[in-house]
Amino acid sequence: MKESVVPDAIELLKIRRSVKPREMSEPGPSPAELETILTIGARVPDHGKLTPWRFIVFEGDARVRAFTKPHPKVPPWEQELSAGASAMNMVTAATALGYGACWLTGWFAFDRDVLDGLGLKADEKLAGFIHIGTKTKPNEDRPRPALSDIVTRF
Ligand SMILES: Cc1cc2nc3c(=O)[nH]c(=O)nc-3n(C[C@H](O)[C@H](O)[C@H](O)COP(=O)(O)O)c2cc1C
Repeated sequence: MKESVVPDAIELLKIRRSVKPREMSEPGPSPAELETILTIGARVPDHGKLTPWRFIVFEGDARVRAFTKPHPKVPPWEQELSAGASAMNMVTAATALGYGACWLTGWFAFDRDVLDGLGLKADEKLAGFIHIGTKTKPNEDRPRPALSDIVTRF
């Protein structure tokens, strides 16, 4: 077996789990920490280097919204996957910095009036809201799928 280059990263990915927004409080990330989280959020695979996503930061809460761009070779699905990777990177980065983090959508992420209020154009989609804060209570893990149920070999 290869030696892990960043063993802590593997440990983090093995234990990371979401924290419910109601189980978080102040403080959120400092400006420098938020910059780190956003930098890591922008460091994701992105076919065609389209940067098909962008971030809006509100006081304490980071919200992500995605907009795909017509492209002859990169279908919207791939651009949306990239937006998902970006959101997940931010959840992971916030966790690594010691914060609680959770990626949520909810009905309001799909409501046209809400999207209009947030200034999303007709062709833009909201990938979700990344809630980041300080954990107020320990959270238990949840059951995970058995690999035997989700892995097949071709
Ligand atoms: C795109 C996306 C949207 C989500 N929206 C919601 C939501 O609206 N409400 C909710 O309770 N959970 C939602 N979740 C699930 C939370 O993120 C959930 O708590 C998470 O799956 C817990 O996984 P973890 O234990 O691996 O962190 C969403 C997850 C994803 C990927």
